[in-house]
Amino acid sequence: MTTVVCPGSFDPITLGHLDIVRRAASMFDDVVVGIAKNPGKSGLLDLETRAELVRAAVFTVAQTEPAMSRVRVAVVPGLLVDFCREVEAVAVVKGLRGGGDFDAEQPMALMNRHLSGVETIFLPGDQRYAHVASSLVKDIVRHGGPVDDLVPAGVVAALRSALGQPAG
Ligand code: PNS
Repeated sequence: MTTVVCPGSFDPITLGHLDIVRRAASMFDDVVVGIAKNPGKSGLLDLETRAELVRAAVFTVAQTEPAMSRVRVAVVPGLLVDFCREVEAVAVVKGLRGGGDFDAEQPMALMNRHLSGVETIFLPGDQRYAHVASSLVKDIVRHGGPVDDLVPAGVVAALRSALGQPAG
C-alpha cells in the first residue's frame, strides 16, 4: 500500500483543495488529508471544524467516486514530518496554482526532506480554481459576498458562524 499525505491549512477547504485530493486518490491507494497549522496564517476555523468540513466534502464526492471512500482526514498535531512518519507516508502531495505557490512551497518541501527524507509531489492546480484561495473566500464572506460555487457544502455556514454572522 502506498500512503501519501495531502497537508494544508484548509481554513476552509475550497474546491481547489478538493480537486487535488481527488486526483491524489486516483493515483495512490491511501490518502490522508492532514489539517495543520501554518504559523504564517491567522486561522479562523478551529482545526476540528476544518477537519469536519473536509470529511463532509470527501464523503459527498465518494458517493460518485469510489476512490474517495478510502481517503482519511486527520489533524496534524505537530510537525508534518512526524505525522508522515506516523502514517508511513511515502510522500506529501500538494497543489500549485502558480509560481507564487511554488515559491512558498519549495522551502517547506526541501525542509521536510531535510528533516525526514519525505519527498513532496506537486500537482498543477486546475485552472478553473487558479483564483480560489481560502483567504479570499474568508474575506468575501466577511463582507457578505457569494462564494457558494467555490467551496463545498457547509463551508459558508461554518464561516458565517465563526465570524459571528447570522445564518444565511
Ligand atoms: O495550506 P498551507 O497553509 O499552504 O499549508 C501549510 C502547512 C500547514 C502544510 C505547513 O505550514 C505545515 O506543514 N505545518 C505543520 C507544522 C510543520 O511541519 N512546520 C514545518 C514546515 S517545513
